[in-house]
Amino acid sequence: MDRTFLMVKPDGVQRGLVGEIIAKFEKKGFKMIAGKFEMLPEDRVFEHYAEHVEKPFFPGLKAYITSGPCFLMVWEGKEIVAVSRAMIGATNPAEAAPGTIRGDYALEIGMNIIHGSDSNETAGREIAIHFSKEELIDYTRIDEQFLYE
Ligand code: RTP
Ligand code: MG
Repeated sequence: MDRTFLMVKPDGVQRGLVGEIIAKFEKKGFKMIAGKFEMLPEDRVFEHYAEHVEKPFFPGLKAYITSGPCFLMVWEGKEIVAVSRAMIGATNPAEAAPGTIRGDYALEIGMNIIHGSDSNETAGREIAIHFSKEELIDYTRIDEQFLYE
């Protein structure tokens, strides 16, 4: 089954959106297999955003993402990487469609509430950065027989 790494960023936590965001993915039928609430340590910020470290917006991004606690999760489900990115919406909330998380709850690119892995390869890399194998819980959700044909 496909997996992705999702993270409610400090603005989402501060604005009380963690529960609502979890509910969206739960109701879709996806299964949370790991979750933790923490301040991101600097070394993991560099690892996680390795592709952006040299970009002009990185200092602002680093300050933002370490400005408060985040809620980190691993989720599982059919084609979850593409589907969760669609549910999250465009990077810039001004361009994100209504009905998406960023489209409904955010205004600025530098405060866009949630992170989602952008490919299966990235998901594997990001899950390994933030979680140990022991933290990923293998279980069956009781509604799976009504979600998957
Ligand atoms: P994310 O990685 O956080 O899920 O967001 P994303 O894939 O939609 O966007 P990405 O290109 O990976 O950028 C990562 C985060 O950096 C901030 N950003 N700021 N000021 C800017 O031009 C700019 N560009 C990107 C955003 O917070 C974005 O989510
Ligand atoms: Mg990204």
